[in-house]
Amino acid sequence: MTSPDTAQTPKQYLPPQTLVRSAHVAGRAAYDALAAEAEADYEGYWARLAREFVTWKTPFKTVLDTSHAPMFKWFEDGTLNVSYNCLDRQVNAGRGDKVAIIFEADDGKVTHTTYAQLLAQTCRMANALKQLGIGKGDRVAIYMSMSVEAVVAMQACARLGAVHSVVFGGFSAHSLRDRIADTGAIAVITADEQVRGGKTLPLKALVDDALALGGCEAVRNVVVYRRTGGAIAWQSHDRWLHELTQGQPEVCEPEWVGAEHPLFLLYTSGSTGKPKGVQHSSGGYLVQAAVTAKWTFDLHDDDVFWCTADIGWVTGHSYIAYGPLALGATEVVFEGVPTYPDAARFWRMIEKHKVTVFYTAPTAIRSLIKAAEGHDAVHPRNFDLSSLRILGSVGEPINPAAWEWYHAHVGGGRCPIVDTWWQTETGGHMITPLPGATPLVPGSCTLPFPGIMAAIVDETGGDLPNGQSGILVIKKPWPGMIRTIWGDDARYQSSYYPPELRGYYLAGDGAARDPETGYFTIGGRIDDVLNVSGHRMGTMEIESALVACTDLVAEAAVVGRPDETSGEAICAFVVLKRSRPTGEEAGKLAAQLRNWIGKEIGPIAKPKDIRFADNLPKTRSGKIMRRLLRSVAKGEAITQDTSTLENPAILDQLSEAH
Ligand code: PRX
Repeated sequence: MTSPDTAQTPKQYLPPQTLVRSAHVAGRAAYDALAAEAEADYEGYWARLAREFVTWKTPFKTVLDTSHAPMFKWFEDGTLNVSYNCLDRQVNAGRGDKVAIIFEADDGKVTHTTYAQLLAQTCRMANALKQLGIGKGDRVAIYMSMSVEAVVAMQACARLGAVHSVVFGGFSAHSLRDRIADTGAIAVITADEQVRGGKTLPLKALVDDALALGGCEAVRNVVVYRRTGGAIAWQSHDRWLHELTQGQPEVCEPEWVGAEHPLFLLYTSGSTGKPKGVQHSSGGYLVQAAVTAKWTFDLHDDDVFWCTADIGWVTGHSYIAYGPLALGATEVVFEGVPTYPDAARFWRMIEKHKVTVFYTAPTAIRSLIKAAEGHDAVHPRNFDLSSLRILGSVGEPINPAAWEWYHAHVGGGRCPIVDTWWQTETGGHMITPLPGATPLVPGSCTLPFPGIMAAIVDETGGDLPNGQSGILVIKKPWPGMIRTIWGDDARYQSSYYPPELRGYYLAGDGAARDPETGYFTIGGRIDDVLNVSGHRMGTMEIESALVACTDLVAEAAVVGRPDETSGEAICAFVVLKRSRPTGEEAGKLAAQLRNWIGKEIGPIAKPKDIRFADNLPKTRSGKIMRRLLRSVAKGEAITQDTSTLENPAILDQLSEAH
């Protein structure tokens, strides 16, 4: 379906009839009606949803304020509390005894937490945090692995109007320090250790290291959840969570905040070295998280939803900590990894918990395909996955072969796959099928969520016809959008609203629409951002980390190359301060640099491929020619014009140095 003359039209998968009958958005006509409603009265449409999905303490009168564009404001004069909406509202509606979270630990131990219990736990933690002097507007860093306590920590911050900043537990002390320092957090909530794949890994020790690096002087307390009981060093500012919460009342009046009050900051990579603190609102964000969770996953009262993301990423915010809870859904929270004790863990858990809606990343699917092909016992066909009705994909393009396997072997050929395109900045789904309404084409995220004005334009913001690849933009602001980059409005404006794009939001992805269906296909990033296993990594960030190894590295350039499992792999070209190493020495130094990156950023940023050279390909004006490096990394013959290159011989060396 890429162009009319490539004769073969890919197969379309129609929504199953049962879904067309019972879905919240039932049938294509229902989708079209919603899209038309938004087109005809954009603000009226979002205002209607904001009233339906959120309980406001003070109802809003203004919907969208564009007077200081692109500093948009939604529902600004309304007040609410996000934790009240996720927890109290469910209990008040008679769902107190309904299971909110089915938690499965790494070792398989399962606990159930009802909405009433989650509310009580959240109130006790909120009261404990309050006792430490944490209140509205204070920033709190959360550095925890997947646990009920982590969700409670987020909810407790929301209850107090404190702004959380969750840092993925795989980030290094260095990255954690940078994030704590940038937010000016006054407290850190962590755990003694985390458990993943049968191994215990430190968390609290890394918080100690992060604070010792300096720059986090605002931190007054470190609250520690006892996960393993392993030995940890104890500082005077450390407090055990269980001691703090003991005896705390199970009631805590929510702090009513304005809709624009920041709910959280979440750091993500951009095209420059320093990660960006994406700031999200309370009201608009919750509207988007709740509406998209309900329609994209077609969540009903009896569903068991499982999003496998970590709370350290936006997916874990919108589709674990907030969206499903705002709907009163039952969800699975998983501490471990998909390959432990074996690569059938996901399938066994779906069977055990009777999961109905399953949301994961293409990387996980691809690695589980590989595992199943190598070892039949872990193939999903050996498990009863008949509870499943909808599957989802997120974080990177899903290649049609992986899509077909997921559809056939996990979904038994009967479950629609919602391939959801969105970003940390968008807060919720932006382009995605709705399972009871949208015919599917493998590899395409299909159509914009109703009310999202996505388009493909050229460099000047001019509309491109369907069939042509271009820049993906969002033409109108939407409720869940990023409000600013924490402390840096100018960077927010230049990153997302460059003047040449006529006031459209620049997503940073390339995309095209199908000539017949108008379906979107995402082509990947158009900036210096890589997507490795669904994790966003800035090439400049890795380069900065490499050159920070000042004893060894003189210069470094990082590019991505396609990788069968991780989507993209990180490839680093390094010039050392000493002569170019070869053979065993090169291997040793590459390992040393990999460890260095692990410490500077985190294991996810370790380059797969490190090549040493005497120099890097540069233009006469000294600019590194990255497009050539991309070809070298892929192992392609160089067909580009190299006449502007100052040192053409370097290309041979780089290609050989593999
Ligand atoms: O390049 C797109 C890719 O992931 C980027 C956003 O990354 P992040 O902010 O970490 O959020 C990931 C989870 C929402 C996008 O700019 N991406 C995300 N979803 C898809 C995707 N690419 C293709 N298809 C998707 N479904």
